[in-house]
This record gives sequence, C-alpha cells and structure tokens, in this order.
Amino acid sequence: MQKLLYQTNLGKMLVGDSVEIAKKYLNRYYSGKFQLIITSPPFPLNAKKKYGNLKGDEYKEWFTSLAPIFNELLTDHGSLVIEIGNAWEDGRPIQSLLHLECLMGLVNHPDADLRLIQEFISYNPSKLPSPAQWVTVNRLRAVDSYTHVWWLAKSDYPKADNSKVLRPYSKSMENLLKRQSYNSGNRPSEHDISKEGFLKDHGGSIAHNVFEFEPIDEKREVRLPHSVLSFSNTNSNDFFLRQCRERKLKLHPARMQPGLISFFTQFLTDENDLILDPFAGSNTTGYIAEKLKRRWLATEINEDYAKNSMIRFEDPELEVNFTKESIE
Ligand SMILES: C[S@@+](CC[C@H](N)C(=O)[O-])C[C@H]1O[C@@H](n2cnc3c(N)ncnc32)[C@H](O)[C@@H]1O
Repeated sequence: MQKLLYQTNLGKMLVGDSVEIAKKYLNRYYSGKFQLIITSPPFPLNAKKKYGNLKGDEYKEWFTSLAPIFNELLTDHGSLVIEIGNAWEDGRPIQSLLHLECLMGLVNHPDADLRLIQEFISYNPSKLPSPAQWVTVNRLRAVDSYTHVWWLAKSDYPKADNSKVLRPYSKSMENLLKRQSYNSGNRPSEHDISKEGFLKDHGGSIAHNVFEFEPIDEKREVRLPHSVLSFSNTNSNDFFLRQCRERKLKLHPARMQPGLISFFTQFLTDENDLILDPFAGSNTTGYIAEKLKRRWLATEINEDYAKNSMIRFEDPELEVNFTKESIE
C-alpha cells in the first residue's frame, strides 16, 4: 500500500507502485480530479537501469494498461503529458517501434477515451552519444538526441491557452514592431500577408512544438517560451543539485527538464488546479507545481529517490510549510 512520505502546502509525495496506488487509493478519492497528469515513465531500455525497466512486449502491456487508469483520474478537459525516449533493438543498429506501439496502445485502449492532441519534441544537444555501440564505437548512426512528448486528452478541446506560454520575439520582429511597417501582400508560399496583422505587440510569439534546450549553432540564441526559460539553467534547479552534491547524495539518473514541466503547467492549468506525476523520481513536477501555486500529488516506487526529493522543498525561494510523515 502507499505510504505518505511528506507533504507541503500544496502537495503530497506517496511511496509505492503507482498502478497499485491509483487502483486502490487515487481512484477512490481523486477520480476526475487531475487537470494535468505529467510524467516521464520508466523508459523501455535495452540494458535494465536501477529501477528495473521492463522490455519489449512486457513493457508495452504494462504501459498500455495505464490508459484506463489515467483516463479515470483526469478531469473531462484535463491533459496527459508523457515524455518518452527512443528505444533500439537489442544488439542491432535499428530503432525500435515500441514507443509508437505504446502510443497506439494508449489511444486504442477500449476502456479509455484518449486521443493524441499534439506531439512535441524535446531536443537536448548535451545528451551523451547513444546508442554508444552504433554511434561512438562503430560510427554507424547519428546521436539520438531528442525525446518525444505526447500531449493526450479525453476531449478534442482540453483546457489550453497558448498566450500563457509565449516565446520572446525575434530581433527582426522586435524591430518591425518598433518600425511599425513591413511588406504586406502575397508571398510565393501563397500566403496573403495583411497590412497590419503583424504590427500589434502580443507580448511574444506563439510557442513551437520543439523545445531546443541549447542552440545547435552556438552563434544563434534559443527562443524558448518564457515559461521554459525561467526554469531552465537557472537557480530554480540549482538548489536541489547543489544540496545533493553537498550531502553526497546520488542524483536521480533521469530527471525531467524543469522547463518542460513548467511549460505544460502554465499552458494547460491554472493556479490551484491539481497535477499528478505517477513516476515522480526526484519530484521535479511537485517542485514546479509548488512554485507555480498548483496543487500536486506525486508517487514514486523507489523510497530513496522519494526521500531525496524532499530537499527540493527546503529551497528558501519556496517558503513551504513542510511536514515529513510516515503514515503507512
Ligand atoms: C524517468 S524517471 C522519472 C524522473 C522524474 N521525472 C524526475 O524529474 O526526477 C521514472 C521513475 O519512475 C519510477 N518508477 C518505475 N516504476 C514505477 C512504478 N511502478 N510506480 C512508481 N514509480 C515507478 C522510477 O523509480 C523512476 O524514478
């Protein structure tokens, strides 16, 4: 059964198997309550990581069985956001289609009503070259440097507002807004550019579905949404990393980009909405939710990861009323 490890002003961290917790506890008290479920589940890996990732068909079966569970927990206009990496066939230089089968499994599940709203790509040039055998040893393949982020929902119109996650304007757009003039008329692409459509300052440009955490070209700046930038490579994540190093604690090996969580939190929820991360690891989700004044619930099977995640809430920037519990 679940164990409440700690709670803060806005959230709770439970330790245990998320599927069991959902079936025995969340279904009873939190059915239809989560506005956002955001998570990076254990990836289907070839080599098993510490937290015991499943492989192949076994993984697909397990992953697909999550569809009705998430479906039950989401509000009618809630969103499910899943970050998942690519997998490769065992001992072969070819990509596995397992992640696509998993996606099909979610949207085709007979006891759920999920659909893919939009796919995002999270590109991370600092990722270590992998799969190492084919990239660095045999030099046969390019570096696998992105993860998929699937945004699913039970309705075609989940709550969403892209004006909350604007990107900074490009230099040329800033100049145009200052100048208040540009060439209107027909373009070779057959777009008809109106006379004034681009003269109004909307506070930024609309976000794209690719997150580029560092520029591929060093001379070019990345233009990520403000919601991502304010949580990427800044002090917000440093406190936890610094404290883990000082206390000689092992960092979670697969932490999610805080900027990614912040983007979807601001895009898809409002203050006080409830957010779930069922595979919470170091609880990046709980931390971001607390910062952005959303209520949250996190579950994690590995008690050490869950315990270490308490450190996030000691961050003086948060001003959290924090209680450590040990209720079985
Ligand atoms: C990719 S990591 C998530 C990392 C997290 N997003 C973060 O920022 O730290 C996946 C996590 O799922 C946990 N996990 C695996 N199977 C689980 C299960 N059945 N129930 C709950 N947690 C599980 C693993 O221990 C691991 O910490």
